[in-house]
Amino acid sequence: MSAIAEKTVRELALESSSATRVFEKLGIDYCCGGEKSLEEACRGANLSLRQVQDALDGAEREANAPADRDWRREPLADLVAHINATHHKYVRTESARLGPLFEKVCGVHGKNHPELLHIQAVFRGLAQELTQHMMKEEMILFPYIVRMEEAVIQGEPVLPPPFGTVANPVVMMEHEHDSVGAALRAMRTASNGYVLPEGACASYQALYRALGEFEADLHQHIHLENNILFPRAIAMEKE
Ligand SMILES: [Fe+2]
Ligand SMILES: [Fe+2]
Repeated sequence: MSAIAEKTVRELALESSSATRVFEKLGIDYCCGGEKSLEEACRGANLSLRQVQDALDGAEREANAPADRDWRREPLADLVAHINATHHKYVRTESARLGPLFEKVCGVHGKNHPELLHIQAVFRGLAQELTQHMMKEEMILFPYIVRMEEAVIQGEPVLPPPFGTVANPVVMMEHEHDSVGAALRAMRTASNGYVLPEGACASYQALYRALGEFEADLHQHIHLENNILFPRAIAMEKE
């Protein structure tokens, strides 16, 4: 077996962000289910290892990635700022935009496509969950991580956090990420993988496209937190 087949999906996602885009396209879970080897993940997604390897090689070549920052090495403060400015902002604007779009599409097509009402309900719950979740990250966990890194750089002692150790809120956030993942899967299943029914109007199309993008952005977002930010913060605290 080749070396790449034995690597976990998470390891590959960490090595290059072009890999995360390939996984996204092929439906391979790299954020919460990333501990599988690439071979297992391919089997699970009904794809040949060869096919996935080719896609990964192609994406890597295309990426010629000087613009992509390697978040395994950049300052944690920069990573936190990136998550807030990119992913948290996106969740907020999209949640606000998709509410009315759901209303419109459900109003017209909900009768013939009752799955839309189910997806709407799941999305509503998800948006609420995310609002609370991001607030906890922004008000409690992220500022502590930034302060801790600052103290380490200055060579000063780190004031102990009110929550004991950084691992405590991290476990809570990861738990909430699992719940986000479950909601995304539920919406994908109910929409039959966001495949549009015959005769779907432009709003219906816009809604499904937006939901697919919302999912992809959350995968990237949770990957940065679960697989990079949190492990690095825990390791820094241990030092
Ligand atoms: Fe977040
Ligand atoms: Fe999060």
